[in-house]
Amino acid sequence: MHYLKSFLKFWVPAGVLELYRNSRGNQPQLVVESMPYETQFLLPKRSLVDIFPGIESIVVNITVSQVYEQDEWMMPLKEMLTLAAICRYVQPRTVFEIGTYRGASTLLIAMNTPDDTEIFTLDLDPSERIAYKENVIADAFPQFTVGEAYQNTSFAFKVHQLLGNSLNFDYGPYIGAMDFVFVDGDHSYEFVKSDTEKAFQLIHPGGVILWDDYLWDRRHPECAGVTRCLNEIKDSGCCFQIDGTRFAIYVDPRAGF
Ligand SMILES: C[S@@+](CC[C@H](N)C(=O)[O-])C[C@H]1O[C@@H](n2cnc3c(N)ncnc32)[C@H](O)[C@@H]1O
Repeated sequence: MHYLKSFLKFWVPAGVLELYRNSRGNQPQLVVESMPYETQFLLPKRSLVDIFPGIESIVVNITVSQVYEQDEWMMPLKEMLTLAAICRYVQPRTVFEIGTYRGASTLLIAMNTPDDTEIFTLDLDPSERIAYKENVIADAFPQFTVGEAYQNTSFAFKVHQLLGNSLNFDYGPYIGAMDFVFVDGDHSYEFVKSDTEKAFQLIHPGGVILWDDYLWDRRHPECAGVTRCLNEIKDSGCCFQIDGTRFAIYVDPRAGF
């Protein structure tokens, strides 16, 4: 709770990022006022091995199709291996994921956690997704079936598919009960801020939160919301970017790693 309080203390609108139209073209460009792109990732950097001593020798499970069947919305191989290794190391018995998409990350979590682990994964109801697409982020969503990657696998029994908008979803039954939360839903600031506040409520003491897309390149300015949001807690002392990946992580010191 102490860390949640200090987290909220740093929660002030930064107002340093904004999207604008480049005067020379119509492509959206990310502008970081008074901050060059190269220095905007303000969370302290730590190596995976530094955060989780001994993780370097962990062996993980991944399917061949997860390596080959990639698309823009899925995690690159390095992040998939990192997520799998973190799951093997932390051995969470309860996991909450915001942003299922096709379920590739859900399957990876399922394949690398103990047999009795319960995974709750949330995505928009497909019927709501259509309205959402029209109202909020036109053209951002490809056609997909939520959770198709883990359904019909021998790991599906570990997964509870939840449907709803992360902004107003009723997290009541899950509050304080999660060992591990993976935040990978809508990447715009107001959503990441809300999802992050929920993530801190979901974990119990000793829990771990992982965010995808804290680091991004110029092709994905929509991820700036993740960076802006987490930059606001850079001084909390508990939140880091994982060196060499796009991930940011919070490890509650009571985890004892
Ligand atoms: C980047 S994808 C998740 C990728 C997935 N974690 C993986 O690695 O395979 C983001 C997902 O978040 C979902 N999403 C976007 N906004 C959401 C919201 N407000 N509530 C719940 N899910 C949302 C999208 O439908 C999409 O499936």
